[in-house]
This record gives sequence, C-alpha cells and structure tokens, in this order.
Amino acid sequence: MFKIYKFDNIFNDLDKQSMVDALLKPGVLKEESVNEGHRDAVKNLPETLIVLPELDIKIKSIYGNNIKFENSFSRVYYNQSFLKLHIDRSPLDITLSVCLLKTFLHTWDINISKFPAYTNPDPKKEEYLKVNLEENQAALFEGRIYPHWRNKLECAENEKILLTYYHWQKI
Ligand SMILES: [Fe+2]
Repeated sequence: MFKIYKFDNIFNDLDKQSMVDALLKPGVLKEESVNEGHRDAVKNLPETLIVLPELDIKIKSIYGNNIKFENSFSRVYYNQSFLKLHIDRSPLDITLSVCLLKTFLHTWDINISKFPAYTNPDPKKEEYLKVNLEENQAALFEGRIYPHWRNKLECAENEKILLTYYHWQKI
C-alpha cells in the first residue's frame, strides 16, 4: 500500500551541523556525470553515518526487522537540477531522504506516484504526491516501487539544497 512517512526534526542540531560542515568541505562532494543539471555527490560519508544506530531503529519500527542498511548518499543540487522520472535501483528498496540544508525559500518538491511502477505506465498523468523538505525534515518511502521525480530547480546560482539519502534493502 502506498505510504509516505514524513519526519520533522530528524536529527539534533549538532549532528546535522557536523554533517553539513563535513559535506561542504572543499572536494568532499564530487561532480556526478548525469544529464540532470549540476549536482555533486558523496557516498557513505562517515559524518552521515553517526546517526545510523538511531535511524536503523526508527526505520525498523516501521518496516520491520527484515531490512538491512545499505548505504548513504549525499547530494547537493544547484540551479537547473532536476530528477528524471525513475524508480531506484536494486537493492535500494527503502529510502529516507533528509534535507540538511536549503538556502532558498521556495519549495522543491519530490513528486511521488501513488501507484506502483508495474501498474502505472505514465505516473506523471496519474495521482501523485508532492513532498517538499525543509531543513531537518525527512521523507521515507519505497523508492523501488513508487516512481518519483523532481522538476527543474529554479534558484540563484549561489543557492543550493543538500540532501542525504539513507537506503535499506529488504532481506
Ligand atoms: Fe530515487
């Protein structure tokens, strides 16, 4: 069944700030070669994993114990970034998306189809949910089942949004 969980104040301020500081150190986030606008990324940055014991308990309380943590991926997105319609790759069954930093005021929704990919050939034309994440908010959903995308981010050249994704595999 389609379900998205949204959390406020997912991390305490100290943990969040240590992640932001670590991620924004020069050279940590590396440019990704994708045709989806300007974005940079880093996998499994240690500072993003400090919170993992608490997160793992939280996510298992929702999806049960038959899941295991797979990785974290942090990305910064700049003006003109977008995310094409997709489902996530195996084995990234469950995604927790956390907004660590957002320097512009308007929203940049992730659009999530309410119907599984295998039942829905054209998700943009069917019902979907728009989820905006402000700083320290998070969204949890099954990204291998429900197609999702982001439209083009329109912001100033010096603005950005920093998101960390935590992934669990169903076992
Ligand atoms: Fe995704």
